[in-house]
Amino acid sequence: MTKLRTEVGALTLEKPGMVASGIMDETGPSMERMLRNGAGAVVSKSVGTEPKEGHSNPCFTEVEGGLVNAMGLPNPGIDAFAEEMENATRCGKIVGSIYGAGPDEFSALAGRMEDYGACAVELNLSCPHAKGYGMEVGTDPAMVKAIVGAVKSAVSIPVWAKLTPNTHILADIGRAVQDAGGDAVVAINTLKAMVISPEFARPVLSNRFGGLSGSAVKPVGVRAVYDLRTVLDIPIVGVGGIRCWRDAAEYIMAGACAFQVGSAVLTEGVDVFEKINRGLERFMDDYGYRSIKEMEGAAHE
Ligand code: SIN
Repeated sequence: MTKLRTEVGALTLEKPGMVASGIMDETGPSMERMLRNGAGAVVSKSVGTEPKEGHSNPCFTEVEGGLVNAMGLPNPGIDAFAEEMENATRCGKIVGSIYGAGPDEFSALAGRMEDYGACAVELNLSCPHAKGYGMEVGTDPAMVKAIVGAVKSAVSIPVWAKLTPNTHILADIGRAVQDAGGDAVVAINTLKAMVISPEFARPVLSNRFGGLSGSAVKPVGVRAVYDLRTVLDIPIVGVGGIRCWRDAAEYIMAGACAFQVGSAVLTEGVDVFEKINRGLERFMDDYGYRSIKEMEGAAHE
């Protein structure tokens, strides 16, 4: 699979597809399973300082073309996550996803993820429905710069920032990550969304709002990556609605050097990475691409 090898800055991945944060990545065994099924790396569920139960049910519903979730960032807290990381990092590359309220909290969490053997840390600056976290801190370029700068000073592993599409200043946020020394941006997290049950005259999710993922968001993600590519020099990881090799190729040609798959692990099955890898290789052979690098940003030329 050397043709599929790619670099996200200093980090080499043997395969360009990673499991996106939030799917099959809450425990060591689930992360291991995805690594054995063709993922180049797994991004962990976002972990915070303290254990968090998350929202009560329903926290997840299916819509045409996707899923809407408001899990509420459930996680066991950074201390308890050590054991999951210890098991999973023995099998392959784990990117530690973290959420926090500001520079100090993010820096402390990133340091722990580095201690646990994470190959990179992904800052969740983009959850669309968490009070005081996610996009509430990730849509202010000055705050983003402060967080990324602080984390860069605290760790020596690569620092990635996962960005929200729920903004009209995506380019400014991307620039803030780059100016602070961030190693890569990851685009996009879910789109803020709502589903209402006419029968009950109420929002379906207990949190009322959630985030839309799945194939419906793919064109939004591809556009975001394309736009970021025009303003940034740092690597871009594409995510949002990827189900097959064609979707992955779109993101790469928009400017991504690697990609993540989330909802499709549920809808297509755990062998989705093997299928994408095979399809991408066949496409590259047929169209004369010798590497992911050669495909990267091809739609801009
Ligand atoms: C959640 O746990 O509610 C989703 C996290 C995210 O969208 O980043």
